[in-house]
Amino acid sequence: MAKFVINGGNTLKGEIKINGAKNAALPILAATLLADSPSVLRDIPDLRDVTNLCEIIKKMGANVKRSNHLVEIDPVGINSFETDKELAKKLRASYYILGVMLAKYGEARTSLPGGCSIGNRPIDLHLKGFKALGADVSLNHGIVEVKADKLVGDKIYLDYPSVGATINIMFAASLAEGKTVIENAAREPELVDLANFLTVMGANIKGVGTDIIKIEGVDKLEGKEHRIIPDRIEAGTYMIAAAITGGDVFVKNVLTEHIKSLIAKMHEMGIEIEEDISGVRVIKNGKLKSVDVKTLPYPGFPTDLQSQMMVLLTQTKGTSIVKETVWENRFMHVDELKRMGADITIDGHSALIRPSFLSGAEVTVTDLRAGAALILAGLVSDGKSKVSKIHHVERGYEGIEKKLASLGADIKRVK
Ligand code: EPZ
Repeated sequence: MAKFVINGGNTLKGEIKINGAKNAALPILAATLLADSPSVLRDIPDLRDVTNLCEIIKKMGANVKRSNHLVEIDPVGINSFETDKELAKKLRASYYILGVMLAKYGEARTSLPGGCSIGNRPIDLHLKGFKALGADVSLNHGIVEVKADKLVGDKIYLDYPSVGATINIMFAASLAEGKTVIENAAREPELVDLANFLTVMGANIKGVGTDIIKIEGVDKLEGKEHRIIPDRIEAGTYMIAAAITGGDVFVKNVLTEHIKSLIAKMHEMGIEIEEDISGVRVIKNGKLKSVDVKTLPYPGFPTDLQSQMMVLLTQTKGTSIVKETVWENRFMHVDELKRMGADITIDGHSALIRPSFLSGAEVTVTDLRAGAALILAGLVSDGKSKVSKIHHVERGYEGIEKKLASLGADIKRVK
């Protein structure tokens, strides 16, 4: 199994470019199956999750061509409504196939996405939406099956503004008969990117980015071209890397309006942020002030930056409180950080972070963003760290060790 070996203490300086957003690319790859003709997608990041979803789509009969950051999908050859069981278990986002297959062919089957370590990750709101549009839903032996002779629009209230449920209901409603209203919808930028693509394909969607989305079903959708938005979580991770190492880094290809919450917190901590049209410059000068952070659905502070922010907070001169409100079990990184000397106390869904001197250790990654946090900790630790189970990290960060090394970090990927 590959590991990252990091010698801490270097400051990061220079410029890196952010890739297309994983969490926009995955639903948009699925959305191409709603069309009757090929789509061409640009700025698709080269990630394990993308490879697995492309494999799932290929096994369903579509023609998938991928080169560098470009993917061309021709859905005309689709001959199955079922995802490959093993692949679907590796990738939660495989459940997007349910929404697109139900909309296009009135039938879909997938293995219930494996709960991953950050929580049991139910899909009850997805299924509530499908049922509201007239689908029959069954769950047998870990296989979710949805079927409908006809989908008819309806009003759906989401008990929680779930990103995945909002996306899947949007898929199903886009080809349903009549009007669907999603209330308490998620507002994440990746949803807006998806809605922009669906609209160009011919869908009739209004209000994405607010908590009320209105969809008028249409008869068919056309394959189109689209460029994926930049990954706000990848960008935030490198911005925190710059701050934690006391560096000066220009993070290129960032839509700063998508990370206003992080920028606000970094300002509060005394970190200098210069925003411009093509990206954001992060300069850490002087001591870091402690701040409290509470994760919330967009536009609140993103849960996907919680673990990375926690590491930065260990380097302030005061005490900080981090409250995780989105996932029920997203503090797995804390035990590993404590092995590096972090002074963190967990109380339920809150963590108290005190000033900590971090020293290198052998640590194990439990989930994607926890892995990013452990790498950040290694960058600022005294001595050598070995980070194992890095396949979790490679699901969501393209070439992370190369990007960090190009900024001056001492990090190597070893077998
Ligand atoms: C998306 O997951 C992201 N993944 C997650 O990023 C991100 O953490 C999450 O949104 C929140 O922003 C992708 O886009 C592929 P949710 P998703 O449905 O859609 C509960 C990463 O690191 N819920 O908004 O699965 C759920 O238990 C990943 O890139 C239900 O109760 O998130 C959780 O507590 C990790 N019932 C909350 O909602 C449902 O039917 C948020 O889940 C669905 C969700």
